[in-house]
Order: sequence, then C-alpha cells, then structure tokens
Amino acid sequence: MTKITNTSQHYGAVAILLHWLMAVLLIALIALGLYMSSLPDAGFDKKKIELILLHKEYGILALGLAMLRLAWRVGNVLPELVVQLPDWQKVAARFVHLSFYGLMFALPITGWLMSSAASIPVYFFGVRLPDLIAHNEYRFQLLIEVHMWLGYALVGFIVVHATAALRHHFICRDNTLKKILPGAGY
Ligand code: HEM
Ligand code: HEM
Repeated sequence: MTKITNTSQHYGAVAILLHWLMAVLLIALIALGLYMSSLPDAGFDKKKIELILLHKEYGILALGLAMLRLAWRVGNVLPELVVQLPDWQKVAARFVHLSFYGLMFALPITGWLMSSAASIPVYFFGVRLPDLIAHNEYRFQLLIEVHMWLGYALVGFIVVHATAALRHHFICRDNTLKKILPGAGY
C-alpha cells in the first residue's frame, strides 16, 4: 500500500496523485493552447472564444493545484534520487523539477496578466477573478509572447523529463519511475 505522505524512498499518494493529475492537465492545456491559437481570428468565431474560456478556466485550476503541490512538497520529505546516479544527473533532475515549479506558476500568472492587460475578465467556474493589471495594449502583446515561450519551455522540459524517466525504467532498470507510481514497494 502506498502511504499518504512521502518517505525517503517513495512518493506518497498525495504527491503521486498531484503529479499525474497535473501531468495530464498541463499537457492538455498546452495542446488546447496551441490548437486554439492556430484558429483564425477572422470574426473571432464562437468556437475559438469557447476554447479560450475553457483554457483559462482550467489554467486557473492548474494554478490552484500548483499552490497545493508546492505546499505539500515543502511540508514533506523529498524522496532521494537513485544513489548510483552521477552528480550531473542529480543536479539536472533537481533543476528540471524546480523549473517545473517555476513554470507551473509562471504560465497561469502570465495568462491571467495577459487577460487583465486586454481587459478580458478571468472566470473560475462562475466566479469572476480580479484584474491583476490595468488595460495596456503593449503589455498585452508582450505577455502573449512571454506566455507562448514559457509554454514552449514547458514542452522542452517535459520531453527531457519523460525521456529520462523512461530511460531509467527500461534501460537502467532502477527505481526512478516506480517511486512515483502507486502500489510499488518501499
Ligand atoms: C499551466 C497553465 C497554462 C498552460 C500550460 C498554458 C499554455 C498555453 C499555450 C501553449 C498557449 C499557446 C501559445 C501560442 O501558440 O501562442 C496558450 C495560449 C493562451 N493562453 Fe495559456 N496556458 C496556461 C494558463 C493560462 C491561463 C490561466 C490563462 C488566462 C487566465 C491563459 C490564457 C491564454 C490565452 C488568452 C492564450 C491565447 C494567446 C493568443 O492570443 O495567442 N493561459 N497557453
Ligand atoms: C507536465 C508533465 C510533468 C510535470 C510538470 C512533471 C513534474 C515533476 C516534478 C516537479 C517532479 C518532482 C516531484 C514533485 O515535486 O512532484 C517529478 C517527478 C517525477 N516525474 Fe514527472 N512531471 C511530468 C510528467 C512526467 C512523465 C510523463 C513521466 C514519465 C514518463 C514523469 C516521471 C517522473 C518521475 C519518474 C519522477 C520521480 C523522479 C525522482 O524523484 O527520481 N513525469 N515530475
């Protein structure tokens, strides 16, 4: 049985649930973001607007989950990396994990700032959230760019991270992936 909290050898149930739930959510938000942005602006068709609203709503959900996840991570033991890992890989792994936390906050916050700069309200399941900054066309355009490049960075980190995880599991055959899967032994 997987414990609720982390141990030095295994992620606990809450960390595992948040990891996989957010992996699905973030990948879906990237796919949706890229798809909706590729739709033509002409007439700003209804489908594009609906998809942007959906993206914003779930993007704010990702921000809420990121806060919960960060709180859980700082209040819990951090499972050790596989001991035989060379130092550079340990540094790289921790660097990618920390960068993920940065991006999990930076993406929704720039999205929210972008909407405020365009004077388009942000709703979270029916509740109107406050504007973060005043209307400003220049900042709006700049934030679109920043949000996009942060999205590309997230894609890059996911590719590196998932490739490393699968390599550890299938080639090195160590505990790296099992540590973050439910039910695996301690
Ligand atoms: C972790 C959460 C999020 C991720 C991973 C994400 C990712 C993306 C990506 C990859 C794009 C496509 C960029 C492009 O090709 O131009 C995009 C576009 C967009 N995102 Fe997000 N986003 C997130 C949260 C948010 C939030 C919270 C909001 C607003 C409250 C938001 C508002 C937008 C808007 C308005 C666009 C379209 C920009 C345009 O006009 O091109 N996003 N997002
Ligand atoms: C959006 C996608 C993903 C994000 C943002 C993400 C983020 C993270 C973060 C931040 C950690 C450190 C533990 C924590 O604080 O929760 C972690 C651990 C881990 N992730 Fe992911 N992850 C993603 C997708 C994946 C995928 C697709 C795989 C596997 C194919 C994977 C495999 C792992 C493994 C094996 C660990 C444990 C590493 C260790 O402690 O040795 N992750 N992930």
